[in-house]
Amino acid sequence: MSAVLKDAPRLSPMHEADLDGVLAIEKAIYSHPWTRGNFVDSLSAGYECRCLWLGAELLGYFVLMIAAQEAHLLNLSIAEGHQRRGLGSGLLRDAAECGRATAARRRCTPVSASARSARAAATTRRMQGAKTRWC
Ligand SMILES: CC(C)(COP(=O)(O)OP(=O)(O)OC[C@H]1O[C@@H](n2cnc3c(N)ncnc32)[C@H](O)[C@@H]1OP(=O)(O)O)[C@@H](O)C(=O)NCCC(=O)NCCS
Repeated sequence: MSAVLKDAPRLSPMHEADLDGVLAIEKAIYSHPWTRGNFVDSLSAGYECRCLWLGAELLGYFVLMIAAQEAHLLNLSIAEGHQRRGLGSGLLRDAAECGRATAARRRCTPVSASARSARAAATTRRMQGAKTRWC
């Protein structure tokens, strides 16, 4: 692997196994850190949770809640020793991109019959006759 690729931070989905590292950062940088339960709840709720890694080192993470085509950034943090180097700005761009991609994917995700009818009704109200593409 080239040195450039090896040294590039990499974004990956957050898993429960990552939470020890995440909580260590939380406790180091916040006076009122999120608890393990907060992160577990976020993962269980299907929020978009990502970790930023450099090799095996956790540099930062974000938790993004997407609802009704709106994204709410609930947590974005960079480890103490890595702040003020542009990583937070980069991670914020990643979160925005994740929000756009997830919202687009959800618009195209097959849904159950009951959810589909509720969505169809809502879509009909919103679109008010405009062309609707079902996917
Ligand atoms: C806030 C945080 C996410 C920013 O990430 P970062 O990697 O340190 O920030 P960047 O190097 O990408 O800098 C982005 C901008 O934020 C500014 N900035 C970063 N940390 C700052 C701070 N503590 N106070 C004021 N401005 C700050 C930088 O000056 C920079 O602005 P500029 O480009 O106009 O100079 C990170 O420092 C962090 O996790 N801090 C502790 C927790 C926190 O305060 N989180 C935010 C509230 S939830």
